[in-house]
Amino acid sequence: MDKILIKGGKPLKGDVAVSGAKNAALPVLAATLLGPGEHRISNIPKLMDVATIKRLLNHLGAVISDHGPDGWTVRVPDLSRCEAPYELVKTMRASVLVLGPLAARFGEARVSLPGGCAIGARPINLHLMGLEKMGAEIKIEHGYVSVKAKRLKGARIYLDMPSVTGTENLMMAATLAEGVTVIENAAREPEVADLAQFLIQCGAKITGAGTDAITIDGVESLNGSAAHRIMPDRIEAGTYLAAAAITGGDILVRGCNPRHLDAVALKLREIGVEIREEPEGLRATARDRVRAVDIKTLPYPGFPTDMQAQIMALMTLSNGLSVITETVFENRFSHVAELRRMGADIQIESRNAIIKGVRRLSGAPVMASDLRASASLVLAGLAAEGETEISRVYHLDRGYEGIERKFSNLGGEITRIGQTS
Ligand code: UD1
Repeated sequence: MDKILIKGGKPLKGDVAVSGAKNAALPVLAATLLGPGEHRISNIPKLMDVATIKRLLNHLGAVISDHGPDGWTVRVPDLSRCEAPYELVKTMRASVLVLGPLAARFGEARVSLPGGCAIGARPINLHLMGLEKMGAEIKIEHGYVSVKAKRLKGARIYLDMPSVTGTENLMMAATLAEGVTVIENAAREPEVADLAQFLIQCGAKITGAGTDAITIDGVESLNGSAAHRIMPDRIEAGTYLAAAAITGGDILVRGCNPRHLDAVALKLREIGVEIREEPEGLRATARDRVRAVDIKTLPYPGFPTDMQAQIMALMTLSNGLSVITETVFENRFSHVAELRRMGADIQIESRNAIIKGVRRLSGAPVMASDLRASASLVLAGLAAEGETEISRVYHLDRGYEGIERKFSNLGGEITRIGQTS
């Protein structure tokens, strides 16, 4: 397994281009299962999770070829199997996104249950409740969920949590249902709107994606071929803004959509980081030691849970007491123990992390435990005195394209070392 070595303490300066969003690429690729069209999808990030969904689509019968440096041509003429096996689903929970498209187009799907994961129980009850409302028959046996439906029927579906992949799964399924579906309390994440744009090009009739009420007027089939560019990754962008702040640097994040980063920019400004909108993207300039602040993670447009670990790394060096409250996932503080090993002063009380700012962090061997936790350790390592060695970096490779290259270009001393075991 690879490790990442960081010699911290240097202010990062320069500009960095943001990649396509993992969380937009995964649902768009799953959506290609809905019809026989030939789609050209570009700005696909080179990530482990994207490689996993490619394997899954190939397994199901998709024909995929490269198109340009970051694009694929994808076609699903027919289905070879309707099953997403455990080996693929266990490494990536988002594999569940094939459930809705398979059930809608082929009338059946069998997907391994994702089970628990490092950041909480993460059930899929809302995905299943919605499909059931559309008339699907659902069975759970032998660790798999099976969905059968002759043709799904439009329904009014209220989500008691605005689940992101839940909204996406149901929106995809509803495109081929008979009649109108309304998803209420839908997730408003920009990735949902990005998926809707793709689906509309394929022939779907969708309004309201990006708001909390999405209306889908089902069609008989989706025969269109789409040319779609995946939206920029707002979490990757936010991570680089935080990197400028934590190292006392100055970074222009090129190609991000500033509107998607409003909640993150607001907090960074509140703690004294200068955030400027420039024609090419967002620039973060750190002036002094950051001020303490309280943050609560919320569904979009609130502060993203996927930025919680990174902002916590930053707050460990603030000038006072900060409270970070995680309201989206019940168990997403695995980075805390590792940050403490680097000298951070953090106490956990239920869903709150109470962070007393310290003057400096010191490099240490630490272990990555999930994707965003790993990013927070990289940020802490870049700011810390001395050397930090991060193991289990495969978590990072799930969601950050070329992270050590991008940080090296900004002046960070960061290298990857390969390991045999
Ligand atoms: C997506 C993102 C992930 C992000 C998360 C929250 C993708 C591929 N992943 O994950 O990066 O951290 O949104 O912004 O887009 N819940 C239920 N029942 C369900 C589904 C969810 O109770 O059927 C709960 C979850 O346990 C969690 C909350 O809803 O507490 C939000 O989860 P959800 O929005 O579904 O997260 P994902 O879509 O898995």
